[in-house]
Amino acid sequence: MQQLLNAGNSGTPLHIMEKSSYSLWLTKQAQSVQAWLQQIDFTGEGLALMPSFSTDQEGKLAQAIFVVEDASHYFACGDLITKLPIGQYLLEAAPEHQQAICFAWLVGAYKFSAYKTNQQEKSLASLAVNKQALVDNAIKYAEATALVRDLVNTPASDMMPVNLGDTAQYLAETFGGAVQQIIGDELLVNNYPTIHAVGRASVNQPRLIDLTWGNSDHPRVTLVGKGVCFDSGGLDLKPAAGMRNMKKDMGGSAHVLGLAQLIMSYQLPINLRVLIPAVENAVSNNAMRPGDVITTRKGLTVEIDNTDAEGRLVLGDALCEASQDKPELIIDFATLTGAMRVALGTELPGFFSTSDEVAAGITAAGSKISDPVWRMPLYSPYNDLFKSAIADMTNCSAGPFGGAITAALYLEKFVSEGIDWVHFDVMAFNVRALAGRPLGGEAFGIRAVFDYLQARYNP
Ligand code: BES
Ligand code: ZN
Ligand code: ZN
Repeated sequence: MQQLLNAGNSGTPLHIMEKSSYSLWLTKQAQSVQAWLQQIDFTGEGLALMPSFSTDQEGKLAQAIFVVEDASHYFACGDLITKLPIGQYLLEAAPEHQQAICFAWLVGAYKFSAYKTNQQEKSLASLAVNKQALVDNAIKYAEATALVRDLVNTPASDMMPVNLGDTAQYLAETFGGAVQQIIGDELLVNNYPTIHAVGRASVNQPRLIDLTWGNSDHPRVTLVGKGVCFDSGGLDLKPAAGMRNMKKDMGGSAHVLGLAQLIMSYQLPINLRVLIPAVENAVSNNAMRPGDVITTRKGLTVEIDNTDAEGRLVLGDALCEASQDKPELIIDFATLTGAMRVALGTELPGFFSTSDEVAAGITAAGSKISDPVWRMPLYSPYNDLFKSAIADMTNCSAGPFGGAITAALYLEKFVSEGIDWVHFDVMAFNVRALAGRPLGGEAFGIRAVFDYLQARYNP
């Protein structure tokens, strides 16, 4: 990313401004510039390239302008890097917009081409900005975003529990953390019966990945991510369309790894733990069945109503473990329900929280950094919907309504009382391309949460 964005003061001027400032800017330009913009019918929106009018430079690109509605929006300039001719540019924009522009510049360059043969790396434009901090921040946020996207985009055959474990290990080695993993039948020995039950039907052994980082004197924050590397639905098999993108069902774990990378790269003064129950929800002769009863790590017995509601099962054991060392905050991310997508669409992640203060803090941080999130209610009367005739509860409500809420209520039972808890139900995938946001794996809410954590722990 260093080749794409650097601190410096040379390059073709690239003026980025909002529509509201364009008319004034235009009046201050030389007659030749005004005439050129008129000539190309520039409407005061989008990109315009301007040639040099001086005799020695004639015909060369002299400057570029990019006019946007809202330059503080973090994706407003998401297309710019791919639209501009290759070359070195120098950013000219209001100081308050520069951080967003730098981020968009880098995320706009993202491309997942690992599986394309004969793909020639396309050269891209490079941008100079006047402060090193702008570059450093943009690179950290963009790298975290790219990590999430890469992990989600990688086909399930190459992104199984072992690969998530390797990724956690790599992050720990990079930033000075440690990883412990409990694998296969060891999950039974160590009392993670539900993670084992969901993952045992796959040849790719289930595992609990446990990354720790930071100083033990600092406040404890634990992240938990759903790591279902492929969700076939299990014996309650998904139909083809519903299964098509289920490589992304480890998206929650990708989100917490991306968020952990941000936390570690900024060295936030927290004692971080990341727990990832990583499994493949597969079909085999030893798969868990509808009607089976599992005694969870917490001791609650759960009757499996539907094997496709597997995310909450693996998260239950992980949240129970997360509660054990009493962190001051537990945050989980999961591609948990189709119902959340019905409620909020694919581009707005919903979240639940037991703390109004934390929820308000995350929402505010998200609006500021163009990473919108929407709080949903932990509506407790719906707890009745988990009644089982033979066990303490079922794993999902029998009815079709309020599925995101009931999934969150299910998880809440595994978080110890008194610990602030946040649960994100994310899509982890762009189903339409937007500026700076290509089709495929996407990070939702991690910048909102990171900025909240930074304001709270490193003000
Ligand atoms: N991984 C899915 C949820 C999902 C589906 C997220 C599509 C994003 C897009 C999850 O494991 C699942 O299958 N949930 C079921 C729950 C139901 C069986 C109670 C669902 O949402 O239909
Ligand atoms: Zn499922
Ligand atoms: Zn799932």
